[in-house]
Amino acid sequence: MNIAANPVIEADQTIYLKDYQKPSFLVDTIDLNIQVFDDHTVVSTKLVMQRQTAGDLVLLGRDLELQSITINGKQLAENEYVLDAEQLVISNAPDQATIETIVKIHPESNTQLEGLYQAAGDLFVTQNEPEGFRKITFYPDRPDVLSVFTTRVEADKKFPVLLANGNLIEKGEAGEGRHYATWQDPTKKPAYLFACVIGDLAVLKDSYVTSEGRNVALEIYAEEKDIPKCHIAMEALKHSMRWDEEHYGRPYDLDNYMIVATSAFNMGAMENKGLNIFNTSCVLADEEFTTDAAIMRVQSVIAHEYFHNWTGNRITCRDWFQLCLKEGLTVFRDQSFSEDLQSAAVQRIDDVAVLKAHQFPEDSGPLSHPPRPDHFVEINNFYTATVYEKGAEINRMMATLLGKEKFRAGTDEYFRRHDGQAVTVEDWVAALTAGSGVDLSAFLIWYNQPGTPKLEAQGEYDAAKQTYRLSLKQSLKTHPKYPNLKAVPIPVALALFDAHSGEQLSLNCESLFENGVKDGVYLFDQDAATIEFTDVTSKPVVSLLRNFSAPVNLEFNYSDEELAFLLQHETNGFNQWQATQTLLDRILLNDHPADIYIQAMLNTVPSLIAHDPLLVSRLFDVPTEGYLASRIDADYQPQVIQEKRNALLDTLARAFGAQAKEIYLSLDPKSQADFSQAMGTRALKNIMLTMIARQGDESAFELAEQQFKNTANMSERLGALRVLVWNDAPQAEKALIDFYLRFKDEALSMDQWFMIQAAHPKADAETIAYLTSHPDYDLGVPNRIRAVSGGLNANPVNTWSFGVQHFIDLAKYLDEKNPIVGSRLLQVLSRWYTLAEPQRSEVKAQLEALKPIVKSKNVSETLSSMLSV
Ligand code: TRP
Ligand code: ZN
Repeated sequence: MNIAANPVIEADQTIYLKDYQKPSFLVDTIDLNIQVFDDHTVVSTKLVMQRQTAGDLVLLGRDLELQSITINGKQLAENEYVLDAEQLVISNAPDQATIETIVKIHPESNTQLEGLYQAAGDLFVTQNEPEGFRKITFYPDRPDVLSVFTTRVEADKKFPVLLANGNLIEKGEAGEGRHYATWQDPTKKPAYLFACVIGDLAVLKDSYVTSEGRNVALEIYAEEKDIPKCHIAMEALKHSMRWDEEHYGRPYDLDNYMIVATSAFNMGAMENKGLNIFNTSCVLADEEFTTDAAIMRVQSVIAHEYFHNWTGNRITCRDWFQLCLKEGLTVFRDQSFSEDLQSAAVQRIDDVAVLKAHQFPEDSGPLSHPPRPDHFVEINNFYTATVYEKGAEINRMMATLLGKEKFRAGTDEYFRRHDGQAVTVEDWVAALTAGSGVDLSAFLIWYNQPGTPKLEAQGEYDAAKQTYRLSLKQSLKTHPKYPNLKAVPIPVALALFDAHSGEQLSLNCESLFENGVKDGVYLFDQDAATIEFTDVTSKPVVSLLRNFSAPVNLEFNYSDEELAFLLQHETNGFNQWQATQTLLDRILLNDHPADIYIQAMLNTVPSLIAHDPLLVSRLFDVPTEGYLASRIDADYQPQVIQEKRNALLDTLARAFGAQAKEIYLSLDPKSQADFSQAMGTRALKNIMLTMIARQGDESAFELAEQQFKNTANMSERLGALRVLVWNDAPQAEKALIDFYLRFKDEALSMDQWFMIQAAHPKADAETIAYLTSHPDYDLGVPNRIRAVSGGLNANPVNTWSFGVQHFIDLAKYLDEKNPIVGSRLLQVLSRWYTLAEPQRSEVKAQLEALKPIVKSKNVSETLSSMLSV
């Protein structure tokens, strides 16, 4: 791949990590007065600033109408400052400067969902990470400037709820039917954690007593009709608070914790200090209206934002290059929380599936970047799977290597050293090293270079010497922007199994493992290495990267029979699943025959169902067409992959034969006391229903119709609807209408209705046109756009035909209206260059035609990176 000079972005727009400089002024306190009116908002700000180093006083500001500015009480004349579209600069400012500004802004017409914006008729909210605060007022809007915020919010009484961070210190009448509330946040924070909310919302209240005895008022704000859907989130919040005390020794530090739900949100949720703002999709959870997967996601996102209070808020990032410091660590923490909530193996399976489906492809294409990038044009483009998920994997590797106690000693040291500071990835690794007594500095290499390492392994048994030698080799694809790629430390969790009995063996390798150890972790940190096990009495089967101990592509010369053996005998549920995925890769990408996989599934599945239906439901995972495409670097033909995958699914369904219906009828989710096992039972039932339909057995439709009608559970209802709709069953149309009438006022349920139709295997341009011109389709609501676009993209044959124009049109439309979302949607097309001709050239021409049209930094940076292959 040749990443040529960037044609769209001018060089001077790129920001480099190496150019970091401390801010010349700090802000001791900030007083905000935000007055919301129907057609504008007035923001009056008082900043008490102090010089820290030499240099200009720089206030960042965008789209602000400046009404007045004073310094130490004196009006500034126009020749005493320089104002452009991005900043206001005062040269020769005194060392103590109190700056007062008044600006006018327009939240009522802000469609970018950044800064302060009107989310719906009765709701104004903020989104300030990473650089939204500069759209509210002039400020040194960078994470290394921490200040104490006092916020007065004033609005018409038609908005009864007035919230900001911290404690409510005053409220009252403001005349002319208006009222105000003043909030003060005692903890110093960067501006990206500022939030305020003005609206008409109902509230669910609860409380929590911390390990220190602090009584915390908990409040979740949502529309009145959605309050019953907030209980799962509330329980998850209390659970998270306890979990962080028990696992990291971190109690909560304020007297209140508020969460506000809005349907107009670009991402999942935001950790503003004491006042989280959430996409409704990540807070509303209810069996009747949302799926099991959504319920699990709500719990993990609630935990994620809560955990940010320590990893992100109390200890924050020095600059935005360090984003993965807070995100990678917080994702690792929320994944660990979710592992305690359900089966740890299945949680790991789901997290690795996400990593492989999103991060691996990203890291193998033109958007590849290190978890800590060293340059960017638009930081919003770097809220990526690499920063979040690969960042989490780096932390997991260090935790695996250290073990529980030492990892805890390391995190304790991090909190002890850096509470209240804005720090770097180096600070984190240094604190972990100091606290644990184990030198982890080599892990910095993972943060600083792009690409998924390839780990090649080879096993050799010597019957005469009774030894088993394991040779390892690592390598990375060359990257033009990062020429000096180094070997990374790879913790390889491994086990040996007796090929006959299936018993797990002791790892006899004196230099590495203590006597009798069966579960070992070998730290492989060279380009190549060989380890030798002794007293191995017959040729063993080795299981590598158990629990996915490192984010690498493993290539091991297993036979298909050995993989089938692991599927049946591994005691690590994750590696059982991994064995199925490796077998399927071989079948779908390398034309291996399917029979060994099928036989292993038939041998393993029936007896495991009673014991662990959730794990069984995952063993049926077949890699998505999108993931398979990411493994193909040239001459990709979407149709061919689709046909192979469908053929495999047909074979699997036929192999299960009458068993599919027997299993379907035998499963009863209501008999499962535990939510996650009930969820597994529902998932498995839906898989069996799909298999019955694949066998061409039309009784599947009657079963589906019954399931659709007789349930109050969304996963069951949707599973049935999917079978009816995707097979064009006679009952399909009626079911779609029934679903619509039942849920037309429930946005999250309707997203599913849109998604199912967009993902119909035979969906065509007309299907998508019907959905995007439906009265309930709304380009102002990212969730709805993602429902249709995500459904479309579930079928890459469509993505790469009429879908190309769909995504380009969206990028064009959103370029200025909502560039964050526009840029993300365009990324769907980032692997265009892998297509076979003539499609490759056609898509390239379409992308190039977009180049002269786009204006936002977000979309231009993404587009030029995409075209630089
Ligand atoms: N920090 C948020 C998180 O928890 C990410 C986020 C929320 C965000 N909203 C955003 C990032 C808007 C960019 C723009 O992961
Ligand atoms: Zn986060």
